[in-house]
Amino acid sequence: MEHYHPDEEFERRLNDLVRPLLAKARPGDWEHTRRTLKYAKYLLDHEPGERDLVITTLYLHDIGWSRVQFSDFLNAPVTQKPQTQSAVLHQKYGAIMAGEILRELDRPEEMVQRITNIIAIHDQPEKVFALGDPSATLVVEADRLDRFGPESLQRFTAYFGRDYVQGAGEKSGLEYLKSGLGLWFITPTAKSLSFELAQASGLFK
Ligand SMILES: [Fe+2]
Repeated sequence: MEHYHPDEEFERRLNDLVRPLLAKARPGDWEHTRRTLKYAKYLLDHEPGERDLVITTLYLHDIGWSRVQFSDFLNAPVTQKPQTQSAVLHQKYGAIMAGEILRELDRPEEMVQRITNIIAIHDQPEKVFALGDPSATLVVEADRLDRFGPESLQRFTAYFGRDYVQGAGEKSGLEYLKSGLGLWFITPTAKSLSFELAQASGLFK
């Protein structure tokens, strides 16, 4: 097996390729992606996982939003969003686009396969966790941790209106996020950080 050692130069190239794509994705997807990298680096300091695979996958995980019409996602009720056509398709297209980019950058084929497989299911945490791959787990956790930070709560309010995080009832965004605390994190580090972020963001007020 070839070894996989992307260096800073590779990360810069990846960054430059991904940025214009994310500018065409949902508003805020570029900033979201940058924050997931920050969360991932923190998780990797405390949990097992392959840094190169986790970071590369996160750079690419949401580029599929640049290829879909996402108004159905924005307009769907909270609990229906994951099943919208654009939410489903951005994973599929993102995997294809990521494969093209990584092959263009001469990444080892085995690594391309692993990364595209994760991207194809990255918004279905239970499927990713079922892989039993610690690196794939960290990708999902870093992505979902961002939902609990103050930046994302502002972003959700801008997308979906104030009721998203303030409305009551089991179909509200607030309840959806609270239930996510128990579903989207496996490692001790991500579990405790998700609770800290949720608390700091006022989710339990
Ligand atoms: Fe996504």
